[in-house]
Parts: sequence; structure tokens; C-alpha cells
Amino acid sequence: MDFRIRKIQEQDLQAIVEIDAIRSGEAKPDFWRKRLQPLFRAGNGEPLTLGYVAVTGGRVIGHILAEGRAWEFGSPMCGWIFAIGVHPDYARRGVGLALCREVCLAFKKRGIHTIRTMVRKDDVDVLSFFRASGFHAGPFIELELEMKE
Ligand SMILES: CC(C)(COP(=O)(O)OP(=O)(O)OC[C@H]1O[C@@H](n2cnc3c(N)ncnc32)[C@H](O)[C@@H]1OP(=O)(O)O)[C@@H](O)C(=O)NCCC(=O)NCCS
Repeated sequence: MDFRIRKIQEQDLQAIVEIDAIRSGEAKPDFWRKRLQPLFRAGNGEPLTLGYVAVTGGRVIGHILAEGRAWEFGSPMCGWIFAIGVHPDYARRGVGLALCREVCLAFKKRGIHTIRTMVRKDDVDVLSFFRASGFHAGPFIELELEMKE
């Protein structure tokens, strides 16, 4: 399939909200508006935020968002992919792989060679996708505490 990857623009917000709503079952326009804002600030200096979309025939069919984070959890600077989504009509055609590759190369260009993400343990499809993209289990484990009422 013919598609291209480009940097996210402000007018992509609606398409990203829609893809995420289809994939997650919930529309979150305010969350996405706030999350995308750092990308459009002049200079996009700090914190380092990267965002790309996949486009075919003028339609946004996928997105990826990532940021550089230093010294969180004691880790030197690394890249975190915090969102990826591909419209189901265009699934399994290499769009996710291309988005992931673009963001990883953009980090590498900035001297960041470790890229991380977080996936639900039982989300076999997304785990398979990241495995196919070259990711493997990292050195951290997530811990959580449920506070009783
Ligand atoms: C994960 C996701 C981005 C993959 O996008 P995609 O464009 O369909 O993926 P690709 O076509 O690039 O897949 C590349 C490889 O990853 C693996 N893969 C992708 N989707 C898979 C699935 N549903 N089940 C198993 N393996 C899968 C396969 O190995 C695939 O290669 P193949 O098609 O030649 O077998 C997409 O399914 C999605 O948007 N999922 C929901 C969003 C989400 O939960 N995001 C994560 C939290 S932010």
C-alpha cells in the first residue's frame, strides 16, 4: 500500500482522536489536544517530543507519539513511545512498522539509542507488533498499589 510518513500537524488532531477512539473505545479530544501541544510550540526544545502520522490519499491512517525522558526511574536519556495507533482499515500493511522506524531513527539522530514503551501484559497483538519492530523485555518492571476506599 502507498503511504507516506510526515511530522504531525495541528490539523491532524481530529484524525488521531478518531483512530484512538476506534482502537480504545473512548474519544478523548481534550487529552489529545494537551498531549499534542508541545509538538507545536516554537522550537519544540524541551522536553523532546516527536510525533508522526502516516498518510494515504490525503487521509491520516496512523500516528505515533514519543518523548525523550532523562533520569526518570534513574535511567539516562531514552526515548519513550507513549502512543501508537493505526486505523483498523489499514492494519497489517506495514504502517505501524514504518511509524515506529521513523520515531526510532529520529531518536537515533539525536544520540538517543534506547527506546522504550509500555504494553499491557495480556495485549498479545500489540506485544507481537513491538516484537516484530525489534523490541524486547527491558530492565524495569512496573509496580502498582491499589488503595482501598
Ligand atoms: C499495534 C498497531 C499499531 C500495529 O499497526 P499495523 O500497522 O497493523 O502493524 P504492521 O502492519 O506494521 O505490523 C508489523 C508486524 O507486527 C506484527 N503484528 C501487527 N499487528 C499484529 C496483530 N494484531 N497480531 C499479531 N501480530 C501483529 C506482525 O508481525 C506484523 O507483520 P506481518 O503483518 O507481516 O505479520 C495497531 O494494531 C494498533 O493501532 N493497535 C491498537 C493501538 C494500541 O493498542 N496501541 C498501543 C498502546 S499506545
